[in-house]
Amino acid sequence: MLKKKFKKIAINAALRAGSYIKKNIGKVTDVSYKSDINVVTNVDKRSEEIIINILRGHFPSHGFIAEEKNNDNSDTVSSAYKWVIDPLDGTTNFLHGYPVFCVSIALEYRNNIMIGVVYDPMRDELFYAERRKGAFLNKKRIRVSRINKLKESLLSTGFAYNVNFAKNNNIDNFVNFIKTSQAVRRGGSAALDLCYVACGRLEGFWELFLHPWDTAAGRLIAEEAGGRVSKFDGSGYSIYDKEILVSNSKIHSQMIQILNS
Ligand code: IPD
Ligand code: CA
Ligand code: CA
Repeated sequence: MLKKKFKKIAINAALRAGSYIKKNIGKVTDVSYKSDINVVTNVDKRSEEIIINILRGHFPSHGFIAEEKNNDNSDTVSSAYKWVIDPLDGTTNFLHGYPVFCVSIALEYRNNIMIGVVYDPMRDELFYAERRKGAFLNKKRIRVSRINKLKESLLSTGFAYNVNFAKNNNIDNFVNFIKTSQAVRRGGSAALDLCYVACGRLEGFWELFLHPWDTAAGRLIAEEAGGRVSKFDGSGYSIYDKEILVSNSKIHSQMIQILNS
């Protein structure tokens, strides 16, 4: 059973965390490295606390899968509801003052994403979707683009933090798509990339080694806007998979061909 207030409270948490993040641009007090080039700041951690305090206050029995993990209790709670949270998607951009980052919050119920909320505080853009109820940007219904040729498509991708040592580092795919599409961007926020496919700013997006919190909300938003989400071979995607391909549906098979060439 999905209660109406789930979406309202998720949106409230995303707006509160987003406004905190925006106020703290250029004011980071603590930066640490999770690995080689993967940074986390005090702002990521505080944003996660803000979100979880709000959600837990309303839904004390729910589980949480959150990137900074202090609050990850999904193994210990028996609730069928799990909140999947990226408190700051695009941390590298945020740290450099490059204004492309967001907050991403999704609600998973019995392995299905039911609600997705992505908030970009720099543009004050709130993307959200509820399963089978469509996708919205600032209360206006959004749809994927109608472009049906890869050569006319604007794509985006990203490179995981293991790019320096992973065998499958996505660089071949990047080169192949540069040569076959109109252009390829590397925005630095996977959650926003997914929302940009949903609202027609991009025709397609692919990436390797993402985590559930990067894609949970955006995948529902893209699907509810008419997009298609799969693995690189076209088979069904779960947020726990290591590769994702998202498109406006129309160029999906052309992207599959390139990814498997
Ligand atoms: C990262 C961003 C980036 C993607 C990386 C992610 P983070 O998330 O979504 O676009 O290329 O793979 O890890 O670390 O900024 O939350
Ligand atoms: Ca992320
Ligand atoms: Ca993050």
